Amino acid sequence: MLFHQVPQFTLRAHSGEEAHSARFAGKYLVLYFYPKANTPGCTREAEDFTALLTEFRKLDAEIVGVSPDKTEVQDKFVKGKSLTVTMLSDPDKTLARAFGALKEKGGILRSTFLIDRAGIVRAQWKKVKVDGHAQEVLDTLRVLYESDRRLNPLIASRRARRALSEAHVSREEIETMIEAAHLAPSCFNNQSWRFVAIDDPETLSAVKAAMPRGNYWTGPAPAIIAVYSKPDLDCQLSDKRDYYLFDCGMAVSNLMMQATQMGLIAHPIAGFKPVVVKEILGIPNDHVLITLVVIAQPGDPEKLSEKHREEELGARERKALAEVLSWNKFKL
Ligand SMILES: Cc1cc2nc3c(=O)[nH]c(=O)nc-3n(C[C@H](O)[C@H](O)[C@H](O)COP(=O)(O)O)c2cc1C
Repeated sequence: MLFHQVPQFTLRAHSGEEAHSARFAGKYLVLYFYPKANTPGCTREAEDFTALLTEFRKLDAEIVGVSPDKTEVQDKFVKGKSLTVTMLSDPDKTLARAFGALKEKGGILRSTFLIDRAGIVRAQWKKVKVDGHAQEVLDTLRVLYESDRRLNPLIASRRARRALSEAHVSREEIETMIEAAHLAPSCFNNQSWRFVAIDDPETLSAVKAAMPRGNYWTGPAPAIIAVYSKPDLDCQLSDKRDYYLFDCGMAVSNLMMQATQMGLIAHPIAGFKPVVVKEILGIPNDHVLITLVVIAQPGDPEKLSEKHREEELGARERKALAEVLSWNKFKL
């Protein structure tokens, strides 16, 4: 469940109005499941969350309690105990089931889910003990809130690594990476990217033989993904705006992020003989073989040339931001 996308839901709130999950888009959401309104534990939990609601809101979070109680019962609960958190009624426990917040015999398992601005579950508590719980959720949110404002850690840690292992990378892993690539945005949703995944040893050797000496480090790679396309598979707009290369680039970027999360290396290269590789893979001449993405598990940097070893272990090099960014007007 952790890190999974929350399903969309519509439930009735204690006020009687319908509440769709989209209402919380762009905010953090604390979704807590409790068994029964007005019982001592559920009252204390709701009061604790109410007491901290202002602090949660400072961190852009909403708190929503969910129980199988009818809306009228929840409304009485909210008014009787002066609660300020929103309550949602889940009479047939559909949402509780979707979150795995049910006991074996069908009762509610007191559980809390901390969902981020993108709708992803980032922390969860099951079999919650009410004492100190609201404060613990707030403390966890504080850490998330701060880290989510910094650079995305997957982007920050991705590198075009060259120290590769010969260890197997499964077709399932490769398909997951391609699935990530295939979720990239594209002009008019043209999805102009095409892939040939290569894991057959003979084809791999032939493709590696069509690379210059500088790409010797691809030797151990157990897989390569060839990315190809052609201009008329995508938007061709005025002022030379052919979008197929752009869209394939975004797809490869997604692929690399997915690989990074999976602890794998996905290193795109331009250094290969395109005509030869297209011939090997049977890619027609009117298509552009844009890049080969070298796929592997991390290997031993000691096997790299000195220059590559230094790059592999050294800090990442980038121009100063001011060199690539200007505000409001072109700047040379
Ligand atoms: C389109 C493209 C082609 C590349 N071609 C090669 C290549 O042929 N050989 C190689 O060793 N690295 C290649 N790279 C890797 C780049 O050198 C690397 O991304 C760059 O130095 C920045 O390093 P970083 O990705 O670790 O931040 C290529 C990268 C891209 C995006």
